[in-house]
Formats: sequence, structure tokens, C-alpha cells
Amino acid sequence: AIYQATTSAPVNIACIKYWGKRDTKLILPTNSSLSVTLDQDHLRSTTTSRADPSFQKDTLWLNGKEELIKDGGRMATCIAELKRLRKELVEDKDPDAPKLSTFPVHISSFNNFPTAAGLASSASGFAALVSSIATLYALPCDASALSLIARQGSGSACRSLFGGYVAWEQGTSPTGEDSYAIQIAPQSHWPDIHALICVVSDDKKGTSSTSGMQRTVETSPLLQHRIKHVVPQRMADISKAILERDFDTFAKITMADSNQFHAVALDTEPPIFYMNDVSKAIIALVVEYNRVAVLKTGKVKAAYTYDAGPNAVIYTPKENVKEIVQMIVKYFPQREAFKDVFGIFGTQGVQGAVVDGFNEAVAKSFDIGAVKGLIHTKVGDGPRVLGEE
Ligand code: DP6
Repeated sequence: AIYQATTSAPVNIACIKYWGKRDTKLILPTNSSLSVTLDQDHLRSTTTSRADPSFQKDTLWLNGKEELIKDGGRMATCIAELKRLRKELVEDKDPDAPKLSTFPVHISSFNNFPTAAGLASSASGFAALVSSIATLYALPCDASALSLIARQGSGSACRSLFGGYVAWEQGTSPTGEDSYAIQIAPQSHWPDIHALICVVSDDKKGTSSTSGMQRTVETSPLLQHRIKHVVPQRMADISKAILERDFDTFAKITMADSNQFHAVALDTEPPIFYMNDVSKAIIALVVEYNRVAVLKTGKVKAAYTYDAGPNAVIYTPKENVKEIVQMIVKYFPQREAFKDVFGIFGTQGVQGAVVDGFNEAVAKSFDIGAVKGLIHTKVGDGPRVLGEE
């Protein structure tokens, strides 16, 4: 028999940022976080895993290239956890079940987005790995149970086990058993939230999330304030906003939390800067766009958020996407670089245009760099099983 499974898993972008671990081995966070899962029709990791007694050892290929599985490392931990569950939950219960937990596993994973998209692939990558092996092993585990394993690969990966709007509850147990992802609302609850990823740089250099957040935990007094006095209320408020489809509140909290995450990075010793001048110009553009919107309707229309790098993600209701793309095309130079666009629609042929009432003086500050590409996507569903046997 051939024991094989293929799954794909989505990327997620946090609105309430995970930044800080209370346990670096188990990957237990210092605060809860919340993200939107993005559509894997556009951005995904796809993983095939196969178990076979004739294999020499567990082996991993990433985008076709063999990667070392370091003993005791994150990848090895995830594989070991999945094998343990296979034995406990399947083989020990059913003597006829093949002893897949004793076979080495071959894992091959591909990202459909280029590294040049400047997106972290660890979240979708570990989510696809865990769901692929869980499918191969026929584990009777729900997505939250699998998120406990993905979390040990990369913290943010635990949120990619669900579609829609997802919280990672920090938990309190030192064993990590209550630190897992839950779905706040499915994609179908609020399907018209779109995301524009503005690729500012594909540079992989800079401080990694893992080492950066540890330095923040060790040195930032502001992080302590954030953990105790800011995030708990924001988690409650943004969850409510999602349930009520209240974009104005959702957007304000998202932007405030991105700002505070970058503030705690700056509050780290030595300080960490993830945003560059183009990132800041995109903030200025969204702020001005929202100022005009508030004058007209009393509500904001877009939310920016930035992870541990300079690329912007702009969340906005579907009806505003075209207008925002037109603005970016108008104000950011080197438009031919937009050729690489993919997603729901490209910017090719999109003419630059300004929203009525937009203060052109703000645009002066934009003339300092280029947006290299735009990816237009939206909220999406969770991991998909693509094939078996
Ligand atoms: C800024 O999940 O990449 O994107 O757990 O060390 O692998 P590790 O870190 P990682 O950190 C993500 C940080 C973030 C915020 C977020 O996604 O919540």
C-alpha cells in the first residue's frame, strides 16, 4: 500500500500581533493574537507527505531542495508529536491499523508565491505540514488540536489551521495545552474583507521574528504594558467588531496594534526597525484616505498593518479596493514594476486616480521609493485536503 496525503494551507496576517514568548521551546506567547486567513487560491503552501518502511529517515524538501531536519529542532518536534498521536490515538486503539508511526516520512512542500513576494512562508508552511501528516495518519483531531502542533513549528502557524477570523489564545498552562487557535468567525461570516499586499521589499535581511521578539521580551518595558493593559481589551473589542462586521472598529484596532508592535520593536535594546520610508509613506496615504472618508461618512475605509518587515497589508471592504489601487498607482513611482502582480486582479491598465478631497500635499512625502508589486487577495478558508492514496 502507498500511504500518502497532500494538503494546502493558507497564509494569515495578524491584526493583533503575536510578539514575545514566555516559553521559547514550546512556543508559548506572552499575549493572545488574532489574524485574518488569506485566500489560498492566491497564496498557499502545498505539502505532500508519504510514510514508507523502506525510507531511510525522515526527509524534507522545501521548494524542491532538501532541507536538514535538525535533531530537537522545530520541524523534528512537529513530526515527533504527530507520530506520537498516530500511535496513541490510532495504532494503540486499532491493532489492524498500519504502524505508520514507525515508518520514516518523506515530506515535500512548495509555496506558490515567490520569495520575492516578501511574505513569510513559515505560517502556511507549518500549517500545511501538520495538516498533511495528520491526514496521512488519519488523526481524529480537530483544527484546534492540530494547531497545538503547528504552534511548535512557528507560533503564527497555529492560526493558519483555520479559515476566516482566527484567535490564538495564549493560555496559562506551562505545558502549552491551552495555547491553541480557535475560529472567531468563518470566512462566510464576513467574506468581503479584501487584502492588498504592497510589496515594498523582498529583502530577507534584518532581525528575524524569533530573535527579535526574544530581545523585546528581555529589554522592553513597553512590552510589559502592552501584554497586561492593552492586548486583552483589544482581543475582546476586535472579536466583537468581527462578529458585528464593524469595519470601522476592526480597522482602528488593527492599525493601533500594528503601531504598538512597531513601537515595542523600537523600545527593544538595541532598537529594531522593520518599517522603511516607503512603509511610512503607505501609512500616510491610508491615514489621509481615511481622513477624507471620515469627513464624508464618519467611518474609516482601510486599515494598514505591518509584520516584521516593510511590506504593508491593507485590509479594506471589497468596494474600496479599486480606489486604493488607483491611489497607490498614482502616487508611487516605478509602476512598470507592477507587472508581477497576481491575485484577484492586477494593476495593469489601472489608471492612477485620486479620491475627491484627498490632500495632495500628503503625497509629497510618498516620493521616496517604489512599491514593487501588489497582491490582491481576501479572507479565505482553512487547510484543504487535495488528494489521498
Ligand atoms: C510579526 O510566528 O514567525 O508576524 O514563533 O518564532 O516562529 P516564531 O515567530 P513567528 O512570528 C510572527 C510575528 C508577526 C506577528 C504575528 O504574525 O502575529
